[in-house]
Parts: sequence; structure tokens; C-alpha cells
Amino acid sequence: MLHVNENYSKIKPTYLFAEIAHRVSAHQAANPEAKIIRLGIGDVTEPLAPAVIEAMHKAVDDEAGKGAFYGYGPEQGYAFLREKIAKVDFQDRGIDISADEILVSDGAKCDCGNIQELFAQDVKIAVGDPVYPVYVDTNVMTGRGYSLLTCDAANGFVPGPEGCDADVVYLCYPNNPTGAVATLEQLQAWVDWANAKKSLILFDAAYEAFIRTPGIPHSIFECRGAKTCAIEFRSYSKTAGFTGIRCGYTVVPKELVAYAADGSEVNLKAMWTRRQTTKFNGASYITQRGAEAIYSPEGQAQTKATIDFYLENARLVREALSKLGYTVTGGVDSPYIWVDVKGDSWDFFDKLLKEANVVTTPGAGFGKAGEGYIRISAFNSRENVLEAIERIGKVL
Ligand code: MLT
Repeated sequence: MLHVNENYSKIKPTYLFAEIAHRVSAHQAANPEAKIIRLGIGDVTEPLAPAVIEAMHKAVDDEAGKGAFYGYGPEQGYAFLREKIAKVDFQDRGIDISADEILVSDGAKCDCGNIQELFAQDVKIAVGDPVYPVYVDTNVMTGRGYSLLTCDAANGFVPGPEGCDADVVYLCYPNNPTGAVATLEQLQAWVDWANAKKSLILFDAAYEAFIRTPGIPHSIFECRGAKTCAIEFRSYSKTAGFTGIRCGYTVVPKELVAYAADGSEVNLKAMWTRRQTTKFNGASYITQRGAEAIYSPEGQAQTKATIDFYLENARLVREALSKLGYTVTGGVDSPYIWVDVKGDSWDFFDKLLKEANVVTTPGAGFGKAGEGYIRISAFNSRENVLEAIERIGKVL
């Protein structure tokens, strides 16, 4: 008889965004005339940058000619992309990261979920509360427990390391779901703690492109000493509209080590490379050519303009909710607005869905400390965002 992995019974039966999609479909089926506006899952609505589209078309042609065809790509990703990443995302910002510390993948969600395979079963995990569910669920699926770092209004949604005894800490800034950002001092405190404790920080920087406030760190590697205690995940999903194309990368510094049972050092980049080369065959050539185009001058200008567009949506939502008397966080260096609804978050979600035909995300779906909040995503057309604001104003 086949026995299943019982750990799956310890996670919610459906992934948060699948549960929301289910409720939205049921509402649409019961109200076929309703024009539902989706400000729930952070999925992009604006098209890919023209520079990306052009590069991907050209890459298709590259695959067409005999002798020019590309088969399996290099395991860490093509050098043409990794070198651009190292230069533009790190070295041009004064951060010491080289191309051989970058591993291109099919997105940050997969890498964030898979990285825990490198660690012993009994490592202590800590995650923020509220939290992007992937960090928690992937650890629980393998039978690990975890502790929570409360992120609330009192700490500005940025917990400090005081009292944390974890071996692995997941941090995400700009934060999903709260939209809060961490200062360099706050991240430096985590890096100093991790180096002192020989712990590891898994830093999810999927939303770094939304940072506009000078001085807010874009990378954990802006902190002194981070290369001996941190791995960083980056994504092109929200940066360049790649949610459906799928591409991201993970930075694993060459000098980063963890420890074998006998206390000897084990290189984590070598382990991650081994894992990826066994279980993953890389993002497609066409995808990586598209990602490369983000780093051209045109690609940079075009993707920045799209992010500015979403940030303006975020400002409109933030101001509208504030005017309605709600306390809001995020929506400045982030596409997410975290609204204190002073009540049950699923009830509030249902009210907005049923009375305004607007989809949001209930804070409780991100953890206990998310109760009492909803998250509103700024990813939509201006027309839809303005209409959603108007409808929300009428029902609240
Ligand atoms: C979200 O809405 O939290 C994100 O779109 C989820 C993701 O990027 O996987």
C-alpha cells in the first residue's frame, strides 16, 4: 500500500491564491454580469517591455537556423545574462557580486521553495508573521517546524534579531505582504546576528525594483559581512512582467558555508549548483535573452516606466484608503498596500468581493499576525484601479 507524505496534512489543503481564485470564480458564476476587478494576487497587467519582446523574437530566430540552434544551456544560466546581472544589479551599485555567484532559474518562488533541501532536517527555521506562504509551506511539507517573527505596527513590520535562535531566517524586503521596507541598519543588525550565530539569512528581494526612496537597500549584500551569511533571491516577475514567462535568479556567494555533522565546512554554492543541475535544466534560451534585454538602456527605461506606473496606482490606492480613515502601510516602495481593517480579514475580503466586485487578499491568509488586515495589489490598469477605488469608497 502506498503511504503519502503525512506532512502535507499539516498545511492548508489549498494554496492561498488558489483558495481566493476559487472564491472569486464562485462569485463570478453566481453573478455573471459582475465586472470583477482583481487586486488580489500580484500578477502584472502591463505588457512586456518592447526591448524584451524584440529580444525574444530574435531569440526564436536564433533557434531556427541549422547550426545556430541552442540545446541545453549552461547549468547556472547563460553568461550573457549572468554578466549583465552582476554588473547592473550589483557592481554598478557598488556591491561586490560576480557573475559566477549568480544562478539563473525559472523564478524566485521555486528557488525560495527549493533552497530548504540543502539544510538538515532539524534546523530551526524562522519566518516573518505575516509571511509569503511559500517559505512556511515548503518547510512544513518536509516535516520541519518553524518559529514566527511578529511583524506589526509596533515594529514597523520589520522584526529585529533580538532573541531569535533560528539557524535559517527568511526575510523579504520590500515585504510581501505588508509593503514595508527595511533600512540598511535593520538589515545590518540581522547580518551581524547571523554571522555571530553562524546562521543563514534567505533574503527575498523580489520587489527591490519598486524601491524609490534613496538609502533603502536593494540587496542584503549592501550590508557589511553579508557574503558569509546570506543568499538572495531575485525575480523578473514584478520587475519586468515575467510572471508568465518565468525567470529569476539566486545569488549564492562563493565564500558562503554551512556545516556538516562533523563540524566541517560545506560550500553552499556548490550544493545549490549540485541540486539545480540534478533537478532543473535551466530557463529557456529565449527567456534568458528576454531577461538580458531588461539590462539594455531601452529595457531599463521601459521597465522603470512600467514600475512607475504601478507605483502611481499604489499611491492612488494608498491615499484613497487613508482618506476613508484606514491606517495603511506600504504602497510607497512597494506594489502592495497593507490596510488595517479593524476586523476579520476574510469578512472584509468577502464584503469587498460581494458588494464592490473587487478582489483583495485577506491578511489572515499570510499568517496569524495578518488577521485584521487586507492586502491590496497595485497591479492593474489605471482605469480598473480608479474604478476599484470608487467602488470601495461606496461600500465602506
Ligand atoms: C503574491 O501576490 O503574493 C505574489 O504574486 C505571489 C508570487 O509571486 O508567487
